[in-house]
Amino acid sequence: MKVKKTWRILLAVACLGAAFLLFSRFAPVGSAVQTLETTSMKTGDAMVEVRLPAALSAKAAAGKTYFDAVCASCHGANAAGQDGIAPPLVHKIYEPSHHGDAAFLVAVRDGARQHHWSFGSMLPVEQKLTDGEIASIILYVRELQRENGIM
Ligand code: HEC
Repeated sequence: MKVKKTWRILLAVACLGAAFLLFSRFAPVGSAVQTLETTSMKTGDAMVEVRLPAALSAKAAAGKTYFDAVCASCHGANAAGQDGIAPPLVHKIYEPSHHGDAAFLVAVRDGARQHHWSFGSMLPVEQKLTDGEIASIILYVRELQRENGIM
């Protein structure tokens, strides 16, 4: 019966459409940072798209050099995370009200137990960094966050 079949197809299309609308309406929007398509991701791929500020403050620029030397091997260039390795720090989870500067200091000094993701724990950073150097790294991450609507 041809007519019946057409109706069934129409109904299926309508259901898919409704499901899509529902999903796009209720999918979490939490962060202004766009999460990249994960299905085609390979280990080491950036996890978020980070918009770079036109200019960094002098202290944040110093922080970037420490970050690139010590943190980027895990957290990725521009703190965009690396699939399968470590999370993006330019992410709503790490906004100042949820992970204040003290949490960053503790993570660098003492490491961080796995809790938000499934990358495993962060070990204490082996390189000796002074409090001032860590503060500049934090400022660098904050300036990246701010440019990406995380504050
Ligand atoms: C060897 C890899 C590695 C290196 C190097 C590394 N991290 Fe991490 N870091 C991780 C992983 C993995 C996590 C995620 C832990 C979790 O599940 O929440 C993490 C989490 C964090 C957190 C969140 C802590 C919390 O309280 O949730 C901060 C902040 C952080 N890292 C900052 C840094 C900074 C700054 C540096 C450089 C000085 C750095 N990390 C270097 C792997 C690393």
